[in-house]
Amino acid sequence: MGSLGKDAAAAAAERVVLAVNGARHEAAGVDPSTTLLEFLRTRTPVRGPKLGCGEGGCGACVVVISKYNPATDEVSEHSASSCLTLVGSLNHCSVTTSEGIGNTRHGYHPVQQRLAGFHASQCGFCTPGMCMSIFSALVKADKPDGPAPPTGFSKLTCSEAEHAVSGNLCRCTGYRPILDTCKSFAADVDLEDLGLNSFWKKGSDRADVGKLPEYFSGAVCTFPEFLKSEIKGQMNDIPVPAAIAGQDGWYHPKSIDELHSLFDSNWFDENSVKIVASNTGAGVYKDQDLYDKYIDIQGIPELSVIDRSSKGVEIGAAVSISKAIEVFSDGTPVFTKIAGHLSKVASPFVRNTATVGGNVIMAQRLQFPSDIATVLLAAGSTVTVQTASKMLRLTLDEFLEQPPCDAKTILLSIFVPDWGSDNVIFETSRASPRPFGNAVSFVNSAFLARTSGQLVIEDICLAFGAYGVDHATRARKVEEFLKGKSVSAAVILEAVQLLKDVISPSEGTTHPEYRVSLAVSFLFSFLSSLGNNLNEPANAIAPNGSCANGSEKHGTLGSDDLPVRSRQELVFSDEYQPVGKPITKAGAELQASGEAVYVDDIPAPKYCLYGAFIYSTQPHAHVKSVNFRSSLASEKVITVISAKDIPVGGKNIGSGFRMLGEEALFGDPVSEFAGQNIGIVIAETQKYAYMAAKQAVIEYSTEKLEPPILTIEDAIQHNSYFQTPPFLAPRPVGDIDQGMSQADHKILSGEVKLESQYYFYMETQTALAIPDEDNCITVYSSTQLPEITQNVVADCLGIPYHNVRIITRRVGGGFGGKGLKSTHVACASAVAAFKLQRPVRMYLDRKTDTIMAGGRHPMKAKYSVGFKSDGTLTALHVDLGINAGISPDLSPLIPGHTISSLKKYNWGALAFDIKLCKTNVSSKSAVRAPGDVQGSFIAEAIIEHVASALGADTNAVRSTGAGRRQLNGSMAGTGGRSAAFRACRSPTR
Ligand code: FES
Ligand code: FES
Repeated sequence: MGSLGKDAAAAAAERVVLAVNGARHEAAGVDPSTTLLEFLRTRTPVRGPKLGCGEGGCGACVVVISKYNPATDEVSEHSASSCLTLVGSLNHCSVTTSEGIGNTRHGYHPVQQRLAGFHASQCGFCTPGMCMSIFSALVKADKPDGPAPPTGFSKLTCSEAEHAVSGNLCRCTGYRPILDTCKSFAADVDLEDLGLNSFWKKGSDRADVGKLPEYFSGAVCTFPEFLKSEIKGQMNDIPVPAAIAGQDGWYHPKSIDELHSLFDSNWFDENSVKIVASNTGAGVYKDQDLYDKYIDIQGIPELSVIDRSSKGVEIGAAVSISKAIEVFSDGTPVFTKIAGHLSKVASPFVRNTATVGGNVIMAQRLQFPSDIATVLLAAGSTVTVQTASKMLRLTLDEFLEQPPCDAKTILLSIFVPDWGSDNVIFETSRASPRPFGNAVSFVNSAFLARTSGQLVIEDICLAFGAYGVDHATRARKVEEFLKGKSVSAAVILEAVQLLKDVISPSEGTTHPEYRVSLAVSFLFSFLSSLGNNLNEPANAIAPNGSCANGSEKHGTLGSDDLPVRSRQELVFSDEYQPVGKPITKAGAELQASGEAVYVDDIPAPKYCLYGAFIYSTQPHAHVKSVNFRSSLASEKVITVISAKDIPVGGKNIGSGFRMLGEEALFGDPVSEFAGQNIGIVIAETQKYAYMAAKQAVIEYSTEKLEPPILTIEDAIQHNSYFQTPPFLAPRPVGDIDQGMSQADHKILSGEVKLESQYYFYMETQTALAIPDEDNCITVYSSTQLPEITQNVVADCLGIPYHNVRIITRRVGGGFGGKGLKSTHVACASAVAAFKLQRPVRMYLDRKTDTIMAGGRHPMKAKYSVGFKSDGTLTALHVDLGINAGISPDLSPLIPGHTISSLKKYNWGALAFDIKLCKTNVSSKSAVRAPGDVQGSFIAEAIIEHVASALGADTNAVRSTGAGRRQLNGSMAGTGGRSAAFRACRSPTR
């Protein structure tokens, strides 16, 4: 392609051209807020990347993005979360998805074959994302420099392989088989360590790389030649001013001046224009409305600078976190520590696009609990900031202290001084729910100390963040105290005491004491090791502050040191052949390639509309009106479906289980719990429906209504219960009075409380309803109970069962949550489709799904237990309260399951009083081992209580109780759960 004139170049600049699995696509005319994931799934045949969370937190949507540099003729690749990446930022990029590396027609890629062969895919919803994370790690490791790996392997190391999928969630399989797949490519793996697989029979066959699907690096072309030519052809085009080229809603300024001229445009409004570099911040701070204009600042050279000098490192604000890790890794100990800490921020596929500057700006503007800000603060960083009128150089401390900067203030770069390695000690710490993979810290810290040759702290910087504070701060009081001192036990003690006053989580922060104690322990560890490093005579400092003798160093185990390895020991028997034979799951490769079709993968039928729930935020209130606030998203509302749209002859039912009860589809006229469906917003796309539903303003009234019943205690006070049918009621064992009289000891008032738990299936609730001729309807539903879905949809629409066709090919995880909970979504789609006579699809966003889902039953067990001095249990009485929520759902099955699980131990006599509480909370339903988990937990808590009362070993009491369980058997007295369950499920007509 030759060079273009100005007009043609302007037209070309408006188009986003990208390659998807080698095919050319143009994204002209798409809504500017379109993500890559939406684009791939709605504008191309690609279905491998899935929507799991929409916030960069699960990895289901991971793809590989490749960029071409025509000046060097080099291609660079990185993994990215397509749910956050905006398609407008991908001009001249190439996107590779799981279908692109291997598929049914052209043969599977060894990553896909090995995922299947190591049994690493169950529901398969996470598998294409896993596949692309592993593929990306292989591409990165197998760059042509360095010695070639042994045949069949890549240059990946086991350690790199273990981190390849950090941030990719799997809710079904367990990570060992997935990690085995990753490690099977690593040159330093011992193949014998890998677990059960279908390539060799463990225990009898020799593990051999030749038995694995063959791997050649570079076998997949990630950047097509046509796109290279197109890029080269446009190299000499006349640059088009951003303001002219941005007619599709995307503006790509190439300089600070150009950026300012956009800010000065009459259309610029910081509420409707979004300034983006990578858009990963949208994973944390969700867009509350649609934007119709985006300014992409990645093309401004000052923001991409990487300048390494003897004074330090200058990093442009738009440099990705992954790139910064690379830069810092190759430096002094302080830089290396910074790199190490940055590697724990988010996940590889987020770090590859998320920028250092974006992270710091979120900390400054939005109080984001940033690890990066804390670490850079301790390292004495400065920032360069461009305001409308001037360029400022500030310390990071000063910058963070300023009032939140406005949208027109641009962070240009961050400078981190080089501290050298003499007499400088730098440590960073973080505590978070998970060591790797998208977990915000409870507390983070970074400490830098400069010591004199005389073993004295000359200067020290102690930075803490994320503990419930607006931004990372320095503990100056403690710093002042420590300056000029040499570290001793007394100094450490005083320093940590001082710190306790400094670390003060703001009101409303969760676990405040825990956070303070973490901060104290970080400082204690640092000062202790500093004492060791300074070679104090008493160099080991005991946790109580006193100095211990000896030379043992007070070490800490970092999360890097945590073993990710596991070993699988197997005992084989041919007795029940072929049971026990490792057989590859049918369809596992199809799942890995992304070709397996889930409900949302079914192409949208012609005239398809999309729905999103408006849910109540009140537990018990009249819904007086639903309106929409004035916004761009509200303009997308086509209609709202409510209870009045249920056809004549139908009924307001969203779920129901024979003999147990029903639940309404709409909270009408009274919302009976927070999270209840009030209406369904219908729009042209799923994104519009989500965003429009957020604009709903609901007016409530609680006039003449009783206060809501929310807890087990409230329900007991108000006698608010569901009944358990006699055939499901568990049976007691023995004579409780007699059992108690045989006891040497008694605990008369023990209590165990359990909260709820969310299902967290990777695929949220979804359905596609298509109206058919003659009052019929077809519903594709991601359900675990298709026959019940058929019954409920028919009842809701008031049509015969045979008019409803339910199709379920597979679900992306269910765990009980796609039982009765899925029928609401099927019914909602069906009512909308029936009313509008157009196909209607619903795919719940993660937040709505979590709020409406219900989840596991909270319980409260009060117990009295009798036991002998040798640990023999003689009697147990339990008062069990079960919070069932607003409808019976499957709750009447829970008492039987709970008591059955409790009977894993022989309690001697067992009696109970169970209250199945009806409350104004979302209905609780079956969740993986429903009732059994709670029963087991309660049983273990009681056993521990008994052991502690006896001062005995808990396992000894367990064995005493468990050893005799045959006497009353774990299933005795339940009436046979499975039979009861089957009885409930038999159809009524
Ligand atoms: Fe994109 Fe979860 S990370 S959907
Ligand atoms: Fe990983 Fe189901 S197989 S989420």
